[in-house]
Amino acid sequence: MKKTPIEVFGEWVSMGKDEGMEKNHEESVENMVSFATKDLTNFSFIDAGCGNGWVVRSVASLPNCIQATGIDGALKMIQKAKKLDLKNNYICNDLLFWKPKNKVDLVHSMEVFYYLKEPQKLIQHVFSNWLKEGARLIIGLDFYSENISSHSWPEECGISIMSLFSESEWKTFFLKVGFKEVSSWHSGAKKNWAGTLIITGIK
Ligand SMILES: C[S@@+](CC[C@H](N)C(=O)[O-])C[C@H]1O[C@@H](n2cnc3c(N)ncnc32)[C@H](O)[C@@H]1O
Repeated sequence: MKKTPIEVFGEWVSMGKDEGMEKNHEESVENMVSFATKDLTNFSFIDAGCGNGWVVRSVASLPNCIQATGIDGALKMIQKAKKLDLKNNYICNDLLFWKPKNKVDLVHSMEVFYYLKEPQKLIQHVFSNWLKEGARLIIGLDFYSENISSHSWPEECGISIMSLFSESEWKTFFLKVGFKEVSSWHSGAKKNWAGTLIITGIK
């Protein structure tokens, strides 16, 4: 029987596979973070589905970052993040049910939103409850319709929920909940790999 994403990623920590994700996602995350932070002064930050917290630690070290929080549903990911970093905030909860006390300037997420049955609900929740007016959501996805070689992942990983949508469907989710200046691009495309699909918009 297939397991939920949170169960599977909890198990990945014991195998050290959280650090493998850090390596594999680094190039795309660098592209996303440099784009999203280039015009920001004194910003607060949330990483949705932060894994072991490597992006939180990296963004928190930028001079203009005043607060950084990571949230993930897998307890082992959050325990590891807290062990590695006593300074920033790490929360174990389901993304759909959690709200920050104070809304933030930037929400980032790498390889997470397709683990929801209805990703538009999470996009709506982040828009309404996490972001200040004028703030940005930026997400990166490797599993999407145009990236054909990713289509075998649900069977290979044994994960119960992996929602496959096209670039235009993801952009439509952003537009439907009210994001403005919605744009998308691909990072790291090569032969047989369409790259990370990056989608962003402003509240
Ligand atoms: C592919 S990993 C990516 C982790 C991290 N962003 C990185 O790049 O290393 C997906 C993460 O999303 C988390 N996740 C998936 N669905 C979630 C949900 N509904 N609520 C909270 N976390 C979730 C998993 O526990 C896992 O750590």
